[in-house]
Amino acid sequence: MQVRFLLGVPRVNKNMKYLFELGRHPKLSRAEIEHVFLRLHIQIQDTMLTPDGLIITPSAPLDPNYLMSQLGGTIKIAEEMAELKNPTTDIADYLIATTPTTKIQFSLSGKDARRIAMTVKKGLVSREKSVRLIEANNTATIIHNNLIERGADLTFTNGSLFVTRAVQPIEELSARDYGRPGRDARNGMLPPKLARMVVNLGISDCAIQKIKLLDPFCGSGTVLAEALLVGVANIVGSDLSDKAVSDSKKNIEWVRGESSDKPTSVHIFQCDVKKIQTHLKPKSVDVIVTEPLLGSPLTGKETREQLQKQTRELATLYVDAFKTFQKILKPGGTAVFIIPQFLHKNEWFKVGCVEEIKQLGFVPQPLTGSELSLLYHRPGQFIARNIWKFQLH
Ligand SMILES: C[S@@+](CC[C@H](N)C(=O)[O-])C[C@H]1O[C@@H](n2cnc3c(N)ncnc32)[C@H](O)[C@@H]1O
Repeated sequence: MQVRFLLGVPRVNKNMKYLFELGRHPKLSRAEIEHVFLRLHIQIQDTMLTPDGLIITPSAPLDPNYLMSQLGGTIKIAEEMAELKNPTTDIADYLIATTPTTKIQFSLSGKDARRIAMTVKKGLVSREKSVRLIEANNTATIIHNNLIERGADLTFTNGSLFVTRAVQPIEELSARDYGRPGRDARNGMLPPKLARMVVNLGISDCAIQKIKLLDPFCGSGTVLAEALLVGVANIVGSDLSDKAVSDSKKNIEWVRGESSDKPTSVHIFQCDVKKIQTHLKPKSVDVIVTEPLLGSPLTGKETREQLQKQTRELATLYVDAFKTFQKILKPGGTAVFIIPQFLHKNEWFKVGCVEEIKQLGFVPQPLTGSELSLLYHRPGQFIARNIWKFQLH
């Protein structure tokens, strides 16, 4: 057999590769991975974007389960097993070598996966194996069929076979989204996956055990909860609305209940963003991560004038918010801030505030490559979110 590792021979002179299957917003997922690697001091030797995800060659082996517990926008993390010269026979050999019983279950994605999988299946049957080919096009199927434990969720891409080691914990994410006690359907709640991504973009340069992170439009506390779960030491939330403050407190207690080992300090209070400096000491906050007021929920029937008025009002609010951030953020501190845009027929209405924010001393930071902002938009929605990261100079 060509594939050395299958015979238990360790690789020499070859760095391990990992395949990260990216979420629906691939650039955002990639930016998050890069920021998490920065925080965890993981050095990357090489990256390659393929239709099946981002292949990363780090300097040292990774812990896929730990990384998955940190990330919000990655669907799967798979480890390279080998470069395959003859995919159909090599994959069959791999499955036989790693399955102790005669019944083999597997799934295969990647280039030409359907044809290869069918040929592998036929080959295994001819070698008197009982085979079940699973169409695992979502993580639920992978989890349900124990494909991770079996080492049997495979991807063939870029000439190599990858074996999935970790998948997104969709049940936990969904419980945090729909199971939390304090909900506010009207103002909208950030999906926990997105909240986790923006938190990760904010904390990449920090020792999280020491920092103070603020969400001054905390709503139901989604950002605060995700910051707590990744282990940020000191979390502060505020909101104009008493209901939001009480929802955030309830939700944080609920999340904390499940992770009572986290020694995080949490402080949540009612306050207009323009007055936060009356509650917090000057230059005391390391990171701000927030999804601010996004305007009235849209139906698609608004007029251009209504949307123009809304974007003007939001621009004023956001610039005012940055005027207070300037007072409470430490020099060099960062603010990850979501700026919405609104769809009217085929035209997007944007909130023009970035130039004024820059004039206050905030410098936009590249999120991945040279991208200064990344768009998060779900089909059918009249709102899209632009994610920015500013650093106070
Ligand atoms: C889009 S929601 C934030 C949702 C939050 N990210 C979540 O996932 O729950 C915006 C929040 O901004 C708050 N808000 C509006 N105007 C404000 C102001 N001037 N100062 C502080 N909070 C404000 C609203 O009460 C609302 O809770």
